Amino acid sequence: MNPPQEHTPSQPQIIQQYYRWHARIYDATRWCFLFGRRRLLSLLPQRPALRVVEIGCGTGVNLRRLARQHPDWQLTGIDVSRHMLDRAFKALKPYTMRVFLLEKSYGKGHFHLKEKADVILFSYSLTMINPGFEAAIEQAHDDLKPGGCIAVVDFHDTLFSWFRQWMRLNHVRMEGHLLPVLKQHFETERCEIRRAFGGLWRYMIFVGSKPRSSADA
Ligand SMILES: C[S@@+](CC[C@H](N)C(=O)[O-])C[C@H]1O[C@@H](n2cnc3c(N)ncnc32)[C@H](O)[C@@H]1O
Repeated sequence: MNPPQEHTPSQPQIIQQYYRWHARIYDATRWCFLFGRRRLLSLLPQRPALRVVEIGCGTGVNLRRLARQHPDWQLTGIDVSRHMLDRAFKALKPYTMRVFLLEKSYGKGHFHLKEKADVILFSYSLTMINPGFEAAIEQAHDDLKPGGCIAVVDFHDTLFSWFRQWMRLNHVRMEGHLLPVLKQHFETERCEIRRAFGGLWRYMIFVGSKPRSSADA
């Protein structure tokens, strides 16, 4: 008889499981440490009728702000967790005519946006895509129009190994690994690294553009 096969859960399965419970307390708890989200939104191009896609939109905090501020933007939120999307759906009820939500795992070749985007936003989602953050960045490059904008806010690093490990337990990788890959694929428009909680960790804001001469343009 063959020994029972050990099943290693995939990144989407781990995240779905994590947010099954955390979705309930997400909005009540995360506002006090997910810094820079409003600032990132203020750095987006301020042009009319933009098509904006948020990857890992969670409970829809950013999409709600954008829907309020930009009535003519077309917004899409993609997330792998149905429990987070259920909350986003409720929060975005007033805007259902122009905000679309999709339950999908995002990564290279998982699926393509039907229409290329002007802006792709990652707000505290890329550090949770492990493995697969490079693939997600490459997919965003493919899904953007030439000259389109990628906007990222996320944890950057910490000097404290206990804190790094604690974040790991919460499926967040905090090793300064995102910026080099973002800079490799996009032209940097803005890059900021800021201290949080007196230096317990640093978070980063990156705004870049897809080169107009990209091969897939
Ligand atoms: C920390 S939350 C951020 C939510 C929201 N962007 C915000 O700023 O409040 C990370 C989100 O990324 C989603 N996520 C993680 N891996 C993903 C993947 N591979 N594809 C799509 N969404 C993913 C999670 O389900 C979660 O909702």
